[in-house]
Amino acid sequence: MTRSLLLVGNWKMNHGPRAARTFCADFERHKLPTHVRCWIAPPFSSLAALQDHTSLIYGAQNVHWAAEGAFTGEVNADSLIELGCSFVICGHSERRNLFGENDESAAKRAEAAITKGLNVVFCVGETSAERNSGHTQAALQRQLAALSANTLGSNKAKLIIAYEPIWAVGTDRTPNIREIEAAHASIQKFLAGRGKSEVDILYGGSVNTSNIAEICAVTSVAGALVGRASLEPDSFAELAKILA
Ligand code: PGA
Repeated sequence: MTRSLLLVGNWKMNHGPRAARTFCADFERHKLPTHVRCWIAPPFSSLAALQDHTSLIYGAQNVHWAAEGAFTGEVNADSLIELGCSFVICGHSERRNLFGENDESAAKRAEAAITKGLNVVFCVGETSAERNSGHTQAALQRQLAALSANTLGSNKAKLIIAYEPIWAVGTDRTPNIREIEAAHASIQKFLAGRGKSEVDILYGGSVNTSNIAEICAVTSVAGALVGRASLEPDSFAELAKILA
């Protein structure tokens, strides 16, 4: 039986509403393998543009933990649900490194989303300094340890982990297969120790049409979180077709 795989396209701060509409119309023309699900995370401002495209699953790149209030620049889970979001990315390394998010705030965002029934793609990954000093596992475990029992135990929505080595995001560098397997094994072990044994773990960081087949052939890899290669409808669709 063919394993089901998930590709999450993270558009980051690209594609305004008009470009998002054009992307969706083009993307929907592709015939994709049924066992590969493609989700899209546009910027907040383009979420409404995806509402007309009923065949597409989409979500947001972040969420605030509070229900509402004086939090300039933030967006709550209810608004995302109202806009038709199915999931939210939490703890992306760009949020952590460029906007001061930390393990605790990323985990609080994840808890708020999952409690409201939004699936969460929770990103963890080591810096190159952590890898070079042999602290990859410790870094992953520290980030995962912030997740609350409510998040881990929730059956309202799915918790998906994206293993994204920070040095591989946007760089065209990727870990080798053994390094991906080792990181995934350490994530699985940590979660199993918290009573969570069935978790999909994605790989993210410089995924493209040349490396996706090899990466997704790894048994513990449930799919990929894709940045640049998700920006063009043909290249995002191609990633799914390669996995057919
Ligand atoms: P990239 O981004 O595929 O462009 O490296 C991945 C990500 O940030 O999720």
